[in-house]
Amino acid sequence: MLSHSGRFFLPGDPGAENLQLSHESNEAMMRETISRLRRSFEEDCAAITGSENWKSVRDKYLAREGGLITGALKKLRELPKEERPAFGQAMNTLREFVEERLETRLQEVRAGERDRPAVDVTRPGFPLEFGSAHPIKSLQAEIEEIFVGMGFRVFDLPEIESDYYNFEALNMPPEHPARDAQDTFYFNAVQLLRTHCSSVQVHAMEALEPPIRAISTGKVFRRDPFDATHSPMFYQVDVIAVEEGLHMGHLKGMLDVFLKRVFHPGIKMRLRPGFFPFVEPGAEVDISCIFCSGRGCAKCKQSGWIEILGAGMVHPRVLEMSGIRDPRITGFAWGMGIDRVAILKYGVDDIRLFFDNDLRFLNQF
Ligand code: DAH
Repeated sequence: MLSHSGRFFLPGDPGAENLQLSHESNEAMMRETISRLRRSFEEDCAAITGSENWKSVRDKYLAREGGLITGALKKLRELPKEERPAFGQAMNTLREFVEERLETRLQEVRAGERDRPAVDVTRPGFPLEFGSAHPIKSLQAEIEEIFVGMGFRVFDLPEIESDYYNFEALNMPPEHPARDAQDTFYFNAVQLLRTHCSSVQVHAMEALEPPIRAISTGKVFRRDPFDATHSPMFYQVDVIAVEEGLHMGHLKGMLDVFLKRVFHPGIKMRLRPGFFPFVEPGAEVDISCIFCSGRGCAKCKQSGWIEILGAGMVHPRVLEMSGIRDPRITGFAWGMGIDRVAILKYGVDDIRLFFDNDLRFLNQF
C-alpha cells in the first residue's frame, strides 16, 4: 500500500488523495494518469492557432514551475523505489512525445503565419501623408537647371573639404584675417567642414581647361548661432567662368540674366565694391527690394536695395595656384546663399523654419 503522497493524479482529480492503493492499482492509476495527460495534451496541441498560443501550451505541460509533466516527474520521487524506473520511463517517453509534437506544431504554426496575408483587407485604411520636395532643394535644382541651360558643368563636391581647397588655394593662407569671418568646424589641421562652395573655383580649374564654366551647390557649415537669421548649416551656390578676355561686363551680364530668372524679370541690380580675398576687383551685389520694388520699406531698411551675393574677377594668384599662368586668360566668380534667396522669394522671416521639418510649413511649397 502507498501513502496518499505516493499517488499520481492530475490536478483536479476529485478525492483522489483519499484513495489507498495497492501496487497494482497504483500502476493502473499511473497508466491512467499518463494516458489522460497525453489525451489532454493532444487536444491542446491541435487547438494551437499561433505562436503565442503555442507558448502557453508548451508552458502548461513543460514549464519548470507548474508544468503538468514536469510536476508529475517530480512526484516520482515520492513513489516506492521499485516502482520508479517503470513510471519514470513512461513519463520520459510522454515528455519526449510532447516535445516532438510541440516542435512539429511550431513549424506548422510558423509556416501558417508566413502564408497568412500581411494585410488585413477588412480593416479601415490609414490616410496617406504625401511628401513633397523641400523648398530649398527645389530651389537648388532650379538654380542648377538655369546654369546647365547656359552650358555650365555642375560639380558635386565633398562637404568635408581640405584646408587647401577651402582657404589656401583661394588666397587665404593660414593666419589670413578673412578666415575669421568664416568661423570654421575643423576635424584636424587638414580637414574641415567647408565654409563655402567657392572651392569649386579651384576644383574646376584643376579638372578642366579654359574655357571653363562650372558651378557647385550644396551645404556649407559655420560656427554660427541657430537663430532667425543664422544657421550653422546652410546652402550656397558658387559659379566660375574662365576664358580669354572675360571681364566685369560679362559678370554683370550673366548676373542680370540669372537674377531675373530666379526672382522676376523686373528685378534691378547694382554692384558695390566689396572685398573677398579670392577676387580682384570684388563686388557686393544688391537687388532692388522685392517687397517694395525699390521704393523703400522696413525689409530693405528704407534703402530700396537688398544685398544678395558676392562676386568678382578671379584673383590672379588664385588662377596661378590652379595652374592658369597665361595672363590673357581671366575669370569671374560669384557665390550666393540659396536659403537667402528662399527667404526673400517666399517671404519667410525665420531661416529655422526651413530646417525644423514642420509639415505645416513645408506643405505650403
Ligand atoms: N564665398 C563667399 C562667402 O561665402 C561668397 C563669394 C564672394 C563667392 C565672392 C564668390 C565671390 O565666388 O567671388 O561669403
